[in-house]
Amino acid sequence: MNFTGPFEEISGTLEALAEAEEMGKIIVYTPPEKGHELETCGYAEEGTIRGYYAGKDCQIFSSYPQNSRGISFNKEKEDQVIKNCLRKGKGTEKILQKSGDSRKKGSWKIHKEKIPLPEKYTLRPAVQADASAMAALYSQGFHFYPTPLHMESYLLKTMDSDVLYLLVEKQGKIVSLASAEMDSETGSAEITDCLTISSERGKGLIKELITVLEKELLERNFLISYTLCRASSPGINAAFVAHGYAYTGRLVNNCRIEMGFEDMNIWCKMLK
Ligand SMILES: CC(C)(COP(=O)(O)OP(=O)(O)OC[C@H]1O[C@@H](n2cnc3c(N)ncnc32)[C@H](O)[C@@H]1OP(=O)(O)O)[C@@H](O)C(=O)NCCC(=O)NCCS
Repeated sequence: MNFTGPFEEISGTLEALAEAEEMGKIIVYTPPEKGHELETCGYAEEGTIRGYYAGKDCQIFSSYPQNSRGISFNKEKEDQVIKNCLRKGKGTEKILQKSGDSRKKGSWKIHKEKIPLPEKYTLRPAVQADASAMAALYSQGFHFYPTPLHMESYLLKTMDSDVLYLLVEKQGKIVSLASAEMDSETGSAEITDCLTISSERGKGLIKELITVLEKELLERNFLISYTLCRASSPGINAAFVAHGYAYTGRLVNNCRIEMGFEDMNIWCKMLK
């Protein structure tokens, strides 16, 4: 994700490692000016995170040591999800207004303004006492996941660093969760870990969590918000379209979430 020097110098090591560990995919994040080095080594671009490096774009390149890993089995369905979302979300693009705080660690300032959640629902930042219930929810929703969200210790550790977890409660019980992983060096943040329990879906909870996460990011002077979300899920793609995110690519067979590997769509938004 952050290589330095000519890519040719590490390319052989990556290939050898992939072979030894039987890895099916190699993923490389790079600024655009190094893209040709990746192409020379046989990598192909799958998408872009706009503004990822302090305003400069990041291109995501991949190579597939195991050919089968590079085949998207649900491409048509996933293309249709995007088409449907974009049709529904037309005209929703908006740029949030700038406000003046720094993005220093520890300066959380959750907006206190009233948000349009149904009655009996409360939106708030997660605290350490929530970690056990959060881990239980995540372990039901995500059987596999790129990060160990099912472990209370992982949630406690990340809560204490650069991840802001927000949750929605209904009468004291957590029903929806989302987080922002913030890179204060670059000013970009990934909105991720979105989950609503099945009985509470379709009520606008994830959209509200994204709204408040974005406000918090702006408050801390983050420039860019992006997500890598499940390409086959209409709900999560629709939520980001509704917030004015732009579709910038798809990462084939990129994450294990339920059973096998899933394609992930990239959505980006300039917050200021
Ligand atoms: C994806 C998920 C988080 C959405 O949460 P939610 O609280 O139900 O979402 P919201 O009610 O805020 O709805 C967001 C958008 O999705 C739409 N939506 C929700 N469920 C949908 C469905 N099953 N089919 C089509 N659209 C759906 C809503 O209409 C809304 O779009 P709109 O603004 O155009 O009306 C939830 O379905 C979930 O937890 N899924 C399992 C975990 C998961 O896959 N997380 C995403 C990981 S990347």
